[in-house]
Amino acid sequence: MNIVILAAGQGKRMHSNLPKVLHPLAGKALVLHVIDTARSLAPQTLCVVYGHGGEAVRRTLDAPDLAWALQEPQLGTGHAVQQALPHLCAEGTTLILYGDVPLIRAETLRKLVHAAQGALAILTVELADPSGYGRIVRDGTGRVLRIVEQKDSTAEERRISEINTGIMAMPSALLGQWLGRLSNDNAQQEYYLTDIVSMAVSAGLPIRTVNPTNEWEVLGVNSKVQLAELERIAQRCTAEQLMEQGVRLADPARLDVRGELVCGRDVFIDVGCVFEGRVELDEAVEVGPNCVLKNARLGAGTRLAAFTHIEDAVVGPDGRIGPFARLRPGAELAGDVHIGNFVEIKKSTIAAHSKVNHLAYIGDAIIGSRVNVGAGTITCNYDGANKFQTIIEDDAFIGSDTQLVAPVTVGRGATLGAGTTLTRDAPADTLTVSRAKQVSIAGWKRPLKAVKK
Ligand code: UD1
Ligand code: CA
Repeated sequence: MNIVILAAGQGKRMHSNLPKVLHPLAGKALVLHVIDTARSLAPQTLCVVYGHGGEAVRRTLDAPDLAWALQEPQLGTGHAVQQALPHLCAEGTTLILYGDVPLIRAETLRKLVHAAQGALAILTVELADPSGYGRIVRDGTGRVLRIVEQKDSTAEERRISEINTGIMAMPSALLGQWLGRLSNDNAQQEYYLTDIVSMAVSAGLPIRTVNPTNEWEVLGVNSKVQLAELERIAQRCTAEQLMEQGVRLADPARLDVRGELVCGRDVFIDVGCVFEGRVELDEAVEVGPNCVLKNARLGAGTRLAAFTHIEDAVVGPDGRIGPFARLRPGAELAGDVHIGNFVEIKKSTIAAHSKVNHLAYIGDAIIGSRVNVGAGTITCNYDGANKFQTIIEDDAFIGSDTQLVAPVTVGRGATLGAGTTLTRDAPADTLTVSRAKQVSIAGWKRPLKAVKK
């Protein structure tokens, strides 16, 4: 099988410098949705027809399994498929897809390809408002005769509600012959792919129509409004899939998955959360409201409180994170670690049962088990040029408002007094404190304001 994806159109109505098919839907370029669905059908040839601004499309998406056909200038959908022809295998079936119709499902395409055995198969839908689309013209017995474009149609033809979605499949050998016979003698002076329908009819080939299961599968994106509409549809589908797998969503309409979200049993996700890249939530994870997670893995039973932000980080089982916590790239927390409000962790490992509960910065650190890091603690990991490491061994207790000037090590079981500025290693099982000694001066009087006369 050949699959051709038409993606040369300009997309003027997007009002954007980004080529239309590169606009993201659920975190992935429109045309990449189509490419991935096409890949799932395992075609022999997968050819993308690109044009305006197309070098960016090619550069962004290039992969060894893709063939590229440049269409310049763009003279219509038939002309577009002509450009792909040299890449196509002459036998078998060819399936035509649009790069700006991203939600088409593989199952629908399989039905269409099946219908195209010894026939021309067209994906059609009946629309309450068919205006703008090519109409499916049938004879009195219901047999398809041809497709007429809106601009070439009569008033009577415009009353037909069955439209051409543009997605079709046909025997490759016949497609090659038909394309050579297209003319641009029509209202738009374009080479219409749709003209192959009457050619197939003349050749006595059966024309079969197939309908998608859902109307949204064939919706195209021409504007930012349509892009936003399809985004909602895509998100609703994702939310439904998650709920069918057993995930509890506080509100399926207030979830955004811009990548892949993999969930174990009994996961709960509150409102307003955004998931990007690949996120894994193990069994019974609870995500509080308004959390943002990107490329993260959360162990079983971990709970994120509201407004937690996690990127390229791993949290072990039974973690208690947030509210207002930030785990940056390279944060790796073992089981039962507690990270509280206004705590930032970067490129650091924290072993089991340790706590960093309030207002702290931990960067480039290795923290052992059962360590308690007090409020306001900061690892001073950066001298303006280089980064240095802080090591805090098991069972250490870091008093509040402590600065650990890296490179520095706090030994096992050590205690740092509050307010310590640690510049040399703190020995194990010892209290280290760098605070100035407290003095009380008896009889000291506050200065008085001078009395004006
Ligand atoms: C086309 C169909 C119409 C159908 C409609 C569905 C033709 C002649 N008409 O309309 O029957 O109802 O789609 O949306 O086929 N493209 C190219 N190169 C071109 C022209 C288009 O690659 O020279 C691509 C576009 O990027 C887009 C697709 O083909 O992905 C459809 O183009 P568009 O202009 O939206 O469709 P119409 O020609 O209006
Ligand atoms: Ca159009």
